[in-house]
Amino acid sequence: MASGDDQQSQVLARPTFSEAEAVVLVESIFGLRVSRIQPLPSYDDQNFLVFITTAGAASEGGRLPDYVLKINNAVSTETPALIDVQSHASMFLRDAGFPTASLCYSKKKNITSIISIDHGSVTKSHLVRLLTYLPGRPIAEVPINPQLLYEIGRVAARMDKELEAFQHPSLGSLYRENFIWNLKNVPLLERYLSSVGMGQNREVIEYVIQMFKEEITNKFSQFRECINHGDLNDYNILVESKKLESGESVYHVSGILDFGDMSYGYYVFEVAILIMYMMLESKNPIQVGGYILAGFESVIPLTPVERDALYLLVCGRFCQSLVIGAYSCQVHPDNSDYLLISAKHGWKHLQKMLDLGQKAVEEIWFETVKSYKPCAS
Ligand SMILES: Nc1ncnc2c1ncn2[C@@H]1O[C@H](COP(=O)(O)OP(=O)(O)O)[C@@H](O)[C@H]1O
Ligand SMILES: [Mg+2]
Repeated sequence: MASGDDQQSQVLARPTFSEAEAVVLVESIFGLRVSRIQPLPSYDDQNFLVFITTAGAASEGGRLPDYVLKINNAVSTETPALIDVQSHASMFLRDAGFPTASLCYSKKKNITSIISIDHGSVTKSHLVRLLTYLPGRPIAEVPINPQLLYEIGRVAARMDKELEAFQHPSLGSLYRENFIWNLKNVPLLERYLSSVGMGQNREVIEYVIQMFKEEITNKFSQFRECINHGDLNDYNILVESKKLESGESVYHVSGILDFGDMSYGYYVFEVAILIMYMMLESKNPIQVGGYILAGFESVIPLTPVERDALYLLVCGRFCQSLVIGAYSCQVHPDNSDYLLISAKHGWKHLQKMLDLGQKAVEEIWFETVKSYKPCAS
């Protein structure tokens, strides 16, 4: 197992820089003058919004941040080649017209810098990067409608297609065999089952894992492989409203963030992950999948085997989010508000998927794909 893919040590290795220390990092590594810095919530790493002092700048009121400082945890820092692939993928997609972040070069002309912190008996190293700030609000915070779901489905598929042309000397590091967030690895959740207790929740997870082993694991060789972003969650997609000629305002995607979970997977994984996270945001969670799938299939139609697996893949992603969320919460109770975001509705929605069953859910999804007519925007 690559050390950077071990969930336990990931959680324990979260960096804990103060705001003042973060300012020093930005100024010393990138040669910029910081006027203000603001911590962001985070899962495994540490992120800060950074405002730069610019000569002659008017007052800061209402100003957008300039950058996001990202400090990797000590474990993922041990896989710099993987981080470099992720950074370059984000820049590659930006050059291809996607709203992804660019990375700033340091004074030494690197996009990643390693800093070492002396903790007395141990020295911990952290990778530091400065990303350009992307405007917009997380899709979690805006009202969802079919048009927006269709658009993000389409963006996800276009991104997977574009990444087929992506080259990097360390591309092989994206084969993250035991990476707990890769949808292939739902069975590895068995290691963390104790985090969800012994009641009904545990039975639900055990049932999905069993079905996954019986119905999905033997189908991987029939799925079409690609590089997955792998974490198109409701806080990793930013949206902004735009006025159409008709005067109507619609949301469009203004940012795709967080390439930290990138790995080799399959087209059908990307859409399953997206469906699960967008279900969390909806009052009609089962309908959500149809609009996303319609957008995704307008670029990449799924094969019958891939379509057949989608239902259990979405259930499998619910399990990953719920189990790893519960586990991380035990290790980091101070961060539980952020960690348990997905759990709020997750258990309820997963139960609903199981109560309805594969056939009924698929009927709703596939009927929507047939009948949905996207509006021109
Ligand atoms: N380049 C960026 N532009 C704007 N906001 C960002 C950017 N990078 C991160 N953020 C904000 O910080 C949050 C956490 O960053 P993210 O890269 O998703 O890290 P993680 O989810 O691993 O903690 C995002 O959901 C987003 O709100
Ligand atoms: Mg994120």
